[in-house]
Amino acid sequence: MGARVDVVEVRKSWGEGGSGGDGTVAEALAGVSFVLEPGELVALLGPSGCGKSTLLHLLGGLDRPTSGQVTVNGHDLARLSEADLDLYRRRTAATVFQLFNLLPTMTALENVALPLLLDGVPASEADGRAERLLGEVGLAAKSGSFPWQLSGGQMQRVAVARALVASPALLLADEPTGSLDSRSGAQVLDLIAELASARGVTVLLATHSEPAAGRARRVLRLRDGLLER
Ligand SMILES: Nc1ncnc2c1ncn2[C@@H]1O[C@H](COP(=O)(O)OP(=O)(O)O)[C@@H](O)[C@H]1O
Ligand SMILES: [Mg+2]
Repeated sequence: MGARVDVVEVRKSWGEGGSGGDGTVAEALAGVSFVLEPGELVALLGPSGCGKSTLLHLLGGLDRPTSGQVTVNGHDLARLSEADLDLYRRRTAATVFQLFNLLPTMTALENVALPLLLDGVPASEADGRAERLLGEVGLAAKSGSFPWQLSGGQMQRVAVARALVASPALLLADEPTGSLDSRSGAQVLDLIAELASARGVTVLLATHSEPAAGRARRVLRLRDGLLER
C-alpha cells in the first residue's frame, strides 16, 4: 500500500542568522507545501541546486526541516521517536540514488538482500526475496556479479531491486537516471514506474530532465526552494 505524504510549509536553511555571523542564511527550501496521494508517481523537476535532494532527505527521514511539517500516513516525522524513525527509514521509505550506492564488495544478490538482513529477516528468506526482485528487474542471471562487473544501467536496476525488496510504501528516487545514457535511463524509469504501480508504491522522482519528468502524471516544479504554481 502506498504512502500518503503531506508536506506543509517546509523550510530548510543552513548557516547563521544571529548577530555573530554576517546574517546570511542559505535557504534551500523556502516554504514548500504539497500532497502525494497513495500510489501516485510524481516528478520533482528543477535545476541543480534548487533543493530537490534536500526535500527528498526530509521525506526519507534522513534530516529534519527547520520549520514546517512532513506527515506520512498521518505520522508527523518530527514526532517519531528515534526508534520509530529508524523503522520508518528501514520499512516505509526507500531511496534510489544517482550513483547507485551499491556496496562494491557484495554481489548483486547480497546488495539486494542486505536491507532485509539488517531488518532481522532470516538469510534464506532474504535471499529468496532478493532473487525474486532481481528476476523482476531482469537480472536473474547477474545475481552473483559484483557491481564492477555490471553496466551503469544494470547497477541502477540492482539498486531499484534493493529499494523495493522490503516493500516500502514510499520510493524516493534522486536523479536515478542522472548517470545513465538515455536508453538505459529510459529502461530504469520504465522499471520504477512498472514495479511501483504493480505494488501501489508512492514515488517522488527528482530530476532536472524535462523528458524524465514528462513520464510522471504530475510534475512539481521547484525553483530556488519554492514550488511554482
Ligand atoms: N548540508 C548542507 N549545508 C549547507 N548547504 C547545503 C547543504 N546541503 C545542500 N545545501 C544547499 O542547499 C541548496 C539545495 O541543494 P540540493 O538540495 O542538493 O539541490 P538539488 O538536489 O536540487 O541539486 C544548494 O544551494 C546547496 O548548496
Ligand atoms: Mg540533488
